[in-house]
Amino acid sequence: MSDRANKAARLHVRRGALGDAARYDDFEVPYEDGMSVLDALRWIRIHLDSTLAIRYSCINANACKTCMALVNGVVEYTCIAKLTLEGTTVEPLPKRPLIRDLVTDLLPEKEKLLR
Ligand code: FES
Repeated sequence: MSDRANKAARLHVRRGALGDAARYDDFEVPYEDGMSVLDALRWIRIHLDSTLAIRYSCINANACKTCMALVNGVVEYTCIAKLTLEGTTVEPLPKRPLIRDLVTDLLPEKEKLLR
């Protein structure tokens, strides 16, 4: 019998946009050894809540650097951070402007178009 059939990982995920009151949603995801936090977030989007805003590109090559978030209070690449059965809190980067949920504005100021 696979690990996935027996175990579930819990994620506590910050939701909302800039200016919204802090809100967290809890999700349970089927767990498999070796899963990343990004694997769990993608599973949530597909199976539980398609409105969850996340950003990623290379998925697990650690090349695009777009999946960064706070995982249990530490800045991590969610595609590298291993999911555990102890529970995982995922929040947006604290020093970047929040767009929505786990997505922050990563573009350096000098690369933004002038208005
Ligand atoms: S998804 Fe590309 S570094 Fe994480």
